[in-house]
Amino acid sequence: MNKVIIDADPGIDDTFAILLAAESRYIDLLGITIVAGNTGLENGIRNSFKILDMCNKDFIPVYKGAEVSLENRSIEADYVHGKNGFGDLDYEPIRRSTSGDAIEFLINTVNNNPGEISVIAVGPLTNVALAIMRDKDFAKNLKSLLIMGSAKVEGNVTKFAEFNFYQDPHAAKVVFDSEIENIYLFGLNVTTKLPLTEKYEEYLKNHDSELANTLYQITRLGAAFDRKCGHDGLILNDPLTVAYLIDSNVAEMMDADVDIAIDGELIGKSFITLKENGKCKVAYDVNPELFYQILFDTVIEKKY
Ligand code: BDR
Ligand code: CA
Repeated sequence: MNKVIIDADPGIDDTFAILLAAESRYIDLLGITIVAGNTGLENGIRNSFKILDMCNKDFIPVYKGAEVSLENRSIEADYVHGKNGFGDLDYEPIRRSTSGDAIEFLINTVNNNPGEISVIAVGPLTNVALAIMRDKDFAKNLKSLLIMGSAKVEGNVTKFAEFNFYQDPHAAKVVFDSEIENIYLFGLNVTTKLPLTEKYEEYLKNHDSELANTLYQITRLGAAFDRKCGHDGLILNDPLTVAYLIDSNVAEMMDADVDIAIDGELIGKSFITLKENGKCKVAYDVNPELFYQILFDTVIEKKY
């Protein structure tokens, strides 16, 4: 069983990642730490409450993380995630309060269970970087860190940079320069191969469950945007990290060193140098059929 903390900025594709981790029998989801990114921190927290309502996992604690990036950068992502970060769907969450501070939770949980905890980071890396900077043992005690981030070829915010790294490049640099031993990186080069195509949209729309229908509704805005950008549907970036932990056959990895540009025109760009025994494992290919099988069998059909 994988003991996991998800660090997220929910966010539509974050929603799929959280549901997958919460529902998988191979994952023990210890808590969710929220960071500002796709939407403001308070929206992200509120959305995480709703996501846990959707899968009846209200007992999973949610922690409040960083409201701004390390150097106060912020960009809008309303055009994909909606003004409320939840595809502009109206809802009332059951829960009203968080369980404490995200950075403290990350540090305490990892240090009390050395070598046992994996963090899945699917938003800007601010919370993870703050934990690394605040506690010297955190990085060494982490079992693994799975990150959605990076653009090997073309970015989705600028020509060079992917959203999570662009939003907090300084945090990304702290992470890649840290002593964390097992970093797995899933970038746009693989996640753009995972559009929620019409076939999958029809499946969600016509499925006889409120959860599936809600997922269909909240993906409408982003789907229209991503189709305008030339994709075959909404790109589900974030859940690949979780799917990999459930079944590593879903992606092919290579050893590499990673560095991040923290200023100038290239800010947020990742420099990925393939290298035997490099510090990170970077995804270079993905199996979309297997990905959607893991995702829907777990979240909708409840088979995993
Ligand atoms: C990443 O940025 C956000 O839009 C998504 O939630 C994902 O984490 C993709 O660049
Ligand atoms: Ca995200």
